[in-house]
Amino acid sequence: MQVLVTGGAGYIGSHTLVCLLDQGYEVVVYDNLINASAEALSRVEKLTGKTIDFVQGDVRDTDSLDDLFATRSIDMVIHFAALKAVGESAQCPLEYYQNNVHGSLCLLEAMAKAGVNNFVYSSSATVYGEANPSPYVETMNLGSPSSPYGAGKVMVERILLDKARANPNFRAVSLRYFNPIGAHPSGDIGEDPTGIPNNLLPFITQVAVGKRDKLRVFGGEYPTSDGTCVRDYLHVMDLAEGHVAAIDWLATQPSFRGVEAFNLGTGNGISVLEIIASFEAATTVKIAYQTVEPRAGDLPAFWANAEKASNVLNWQAKRSLAEMMEDAWRWQSKNPNGYS
Ligand code: NAD
Ligand code: WQD
Repeated sequence: MQVLVTGGAGYIGSHTLVCLLDQGYEVVVYDNLINASAEALSRVEKLTGKTIDFVQGDVRDTDSLDDLFATRSIDMVIHFAALKAVGESAQCPLEYYQNNVHGSLCLLEAMAKAGVNNFVYSSSATVYGEANPSPYVETMNLGSPSSPYGAGKVMVERILLDKARANPNFRAVSLRYFNPIGAHPSGDIGEDPTGIPNNLLPFITQVAVGKRDKLRVFGGEYPTSDGTCVRDYLHVMDLAEGHVAAIDWLATQPSFRGVEAFNLGTGNGISVLEIIASFEAATTVKIAYQTVEPRAGDLPAFWANAEKASNVLNWQAKRSLAEMMEDAWRWQSKNPNGYS
């Protein structure tokens, strides 16, 4: 079975490649490397002992996509390729809609031309918006995320539903990720943000390695147990295995048609201060921090109900918070400058 992985050189994509290759899937990676390095793919090849068919290209380049489908026998597509900085999306919304929504449309059109009907989409917990209470369940109505990034995720989920209504052969899974952190246990692949990290764990590991002075904890008076925001953090390898579970499920359910959404999270809410304490306990490295004003757009607390993924996909997040911290730290300390 040949799987096209768009955005496969990125953080979640590269970890998913390891799992797919270990399970015997053949992969084709399509990535424009706007936020990734080809070095990640070389490292995946070393870790798995397999060769990756890599094509550098943009999902909005329809000729290149047509050529890709014409020259390979692709059965399924996992679509990671997107821009992902929530704050940045408010500064340049058109670029985000262009890349993330228009890019998804181009890919779906190329798939339709090539007669490929199996699609796994990288969605996000952000689609639930602020109106829904936690834990988030897949049966909830989607919210109206305030950021163009989040709105784009809702739009693409809607496009998939409409596509499935119009095309009775279309089969899609939307995976709604909560907060992936950590790295492959080898420490050879991991998250490599450009510039100042937006996300919590890369910031913490950069403080730990001495690249940043201190962490700024955004807000200390939220209505949570210790006043800091609560999220559902999951190990990126668990998330990667969730994609294999989705692909396996599509492959073993030939009569399935339509779109199914699954939350991929642990079901546990963890605060920012708990993350700091857990990192310090797992690594014995102290993190300097200062509590500052809340970050615009942050919700106080959300976490997943992940029962559907367990019942239907037979997938559960297995790795502990301590493993997430140890693996994130191994990656950062082995690669203080990421892939460069
Ligand atoms: P990432 O930036 O590491 O990976 C995205 C990859 O897509 C990169 O390799 C980038 O070069 C590539 N890319 C971007 N635009 C492209 C285009 N037009 N054509 C081809 N390639 C393109 O991000 P990630 O954290 O691995 O996220 C992967 C997916 O998961 C994204 O869709 C993201 O929105 C979604 N997601 C991420 C998180 C998270 O916390 N990391 C949470 C929820 C959802
Ligand atoms: C986690 C917590 C911050 C940095 C985002 C997107 C979401 C998804 C995952 C793509 C929050 C706090 C952070 C810092 C801090 N991405 N924090 N100091 O905001 O939950 O989710 O990434 O789909 O859509 O919104 O993740 O890692 O940025 O923040 O105190 O320097 O850490 O306030 O409470 P977030 P995050």
